[in-house]
Amino acid sequence: MTEMMPVTDARTPNETDQNATTQDTPAPKKPVLPDAQTVTSVKHWTDRLFSFRVTRPRTLRFRSGEFVMIGLMGDNGKPLLRAYSIASPSWDDELEFYSIKVPDGPLTSRLQHIKVGDQIILRPKPVGTLVHDALLPGKRLWFFATGTGFAPFASLLREPQTWEDYDEVIITHTCRTAGELHYGADLIASLKDDPLIGEMIGDKLRYYPTTTREQSPKMGRITDLMRSGEVYSDLGVEPMTPETDRAMICGNLDFNLDIKALLEGYGLEEGANSKPAQFVVEKAFLD
Ligand SMILES: Cc1cc2nc3c(=O)[nH]c(=O)nc-3n(C[C@H](O)[C@H](O)[C@H](O)COP(=O)(O)OP(=O)(O)OC[C@H]3O[C@@H](n4cnc5c(N)ncnc54)[C@H](O)[C@@H]3O)c2cc1C
Ligand SMILES: NC(=O)c1ccc[n+]([C@@H]2O[C@H](COP(=O)([O-])OP(=O)(O)OC[C@H]3O[C@@H](n4cnc5c(N)ncnc54)[C@H](OP(=O)(O)O)[C@@H]3O)[C@@H](O)[C@H]2O)c1
Repeated sequence: MTEMMPVTDARTPNETDQNATTQDTPAPKKPVLPDAQTVTSVKHWTDRLFSFRVTRPRTLRFRSGEFVMIGLMGDNGKPLLRAYSIASPSWDDELEFYSIKVPDGPLTSRLQHIKVGDQIILRPKPVGTLVHDALLPGKRLWFFATGTGFAPFASLLREPQTWEDYDEVIITHTCRTAGELHYGADLIASLKDDPLIGEMIGDKLRYYPTTTREQSPKMGRITDLMRSGEVYSDLGVEPMTPETDRAMICGNLDFNLDIKALLEGYGLEEGANSKPAQFVVEKAFLD
């Protein structure tokens, strides 16, 4: 599922009724949003990136790596919704999101100003292709991300199944600037102290961050570093093969297509929920 869902008024009659008051019930101070969840923390990483956590609906079940529609009430009184990967793992009590700030973006020009205690709308219908069920068993799992495409992998890196199913996990993250790597780098640094998965990870995780427009220890697009073989020599690992390697890809459209072509060149085939194979792809945003 890679199509952006349109902005709709998806309130059911029951949801609309939530706003109704009776003589016995004092009017709420502010309108109750349909599918409202409360913001519990917000962190700004750069002038273009922030993350936040919200309460989790008690009935929401999802698979690590999936996305949901979230948003705010539009000026026209209709929900303004966008697709967002859930960055927290399936077992977490709260939901985490990692977001871009598009200056004139209909949603994020407003969403970037949310504060603890504010409400957002969250449609509890998780979907997506970046899930373990869509991959055949393998030995080594690669996560390829650009920009906010890191979000689904923030979920999967904290998912015990990732560490149960694979001997080695390699995550590459390419951003324009070094500051755009911080959310991912902090999360990866925290994994070893995680009470649930810290011990499971052991020495299985390899992290390969690169930047393209600002100096950092490793410069260049991951695609170029794969073509030249540099990523393999840097990590001291064998190039990918369909027998051992599985991969998940999340970035801009061109990036997804370029990595897909590279993986197909190694002999890997694209999978889906209905037909598991050797790699899966999802867009981090629509252009
Ligand atoms: C399956 C899926 C999952 C997504 N998950 C996330 C997520 O976890 N975090 C997130 O920030 N966004 C995510 N997005 C993008 C998100 O749906 C919105 O596009 C984004 O929140 C901006 O909304 P907007 O209304 O402000 O601007 P929009 O009108 O939606 O976008 C305006 C323009 O901004 C650029 N843009 C939009 N999103 C991004 C982005 N994430 N990174 C870089 N440039 C972008 C594009 O050029 C786009 O045309 C996802 C999109 C899809 C399809
Ligand atoms: N206002 C600002 O200051 C500002 C800053 C940055 C971005 N933006 C806008 O925000 C949008 C998204 O920017 P973004 O940086 O989040 O995402 P992006 O343009 O998708 O770039 C993210 C990273 O992916 C790399 N990349 C892009 N295409 C690739 C490909 N085909 N193969 C391999 N690597 C690839 C980029 O390298 P390259 O650098 O080589 O492209 C960059 O390091 C853009 O439309 C841009 O116009 C605005």
